[in-house]
Amino acid sequence: MQALAAEAGTPCHLYPLDVTDAPALAAAGTDFIARCGVPDIVIANAGISVGTLTEELEDLPAFQRVFATNVMGMVHAFQPFFAAMKQAGAGRLVGVASVAGIRGLPGAGAYSASKAAAIAYLESLRVELRGSGVRVVTLVPGYIDTPMTEKNPYPMPFLMPVDRAVLSMARHIERGTRFAVMPWQMGVVAQLLKVLPRPLFDALFARAGRKPRGSG
Ligand SMILES: NC(=O)c1ccc[n+]([C@@H]2O[C@H](COP(=O)([O-])OP(=O)(O)OC[C@H]3O[C@@H](n4cnc5c(N)ncnc54)[C@H](OP(=O)(O)O)[C@@H]3O)[C@@H](O)[C@H]2O)c1
Repeated sequence: MQALAAEAGTPCHLYPLDVTDAPALAAAGTDFIARCGVPDIVIANAGISVGTLTEELEDLPAFQRVFATNVMGMVHAFQPFFAAMKQAGAGRLVGVASVAGIRGLPGAGAYSASKAAAIAYLESLRVELRGSGVRVVTLVPGYIDTPMTEKNPYPMPFLMPVDRAVLSMARHIERGTRFAVMPWQMGVVAQLLKVLPRPLFDALFARAGRKPRGSG
């Protein structure tokens, strides 16, 4: 990040922190607004993915970590800026969810549930901010080629290179798209998943590949 900031050609302020640490984000938000004013865009991107099984007692901390990062981390990231952006009447709050949040994927109860929670949370914000001038953008990636997916032991349809994914995300942020799935082929899959009857979904996904437990 420091190397990127040095190349940026514009002042950058870096706040290395853990998104589960609400006071740290509040302090960073206050400091940022004091130095730079109300932000145009806030992106809550931090997330972790790990296989989890409810029957395994030792997976409980993983459930907590995934929810703390993927759900509460998003709330912590937006909270310091929400009121100021609403008052300014402009800007974008951007949350990175996942296609895994559309239906519950086996072996990924924590991750799927956390991303479903993120999707619903972002929808709540979108309606709360309707007419305020602040747009809420829900980004819903399928499979993107990042360290998160590099060890997935199953085929990943429509795997997207990260630079293309980021360009697509930037376009949606600029437009203020309410809900954007990338790549577009995954958007079609997401639409189908939404309407797939439960018995059919259960039969199709019973044998789906699973993220190994304990890997991040
Ligand atoms: N890759 C995909 O196919 C895919 C698909 C759907 C959704 N997503 C979502 O896209 C987002 C980015 O994922 P990615 O693929 O880029 O994964 P990644 O390569 O594993 O990167 C995750 C990023 O989140 C940061 N992070 C994790 N926990 C954090 C915490 N507690 N506090 C602060 N930062 C934290 C990591 O920082 P450090 O490196 O410093 O730990 C890292 O920069 C996530 O929300 C993920 O769920 C990814």
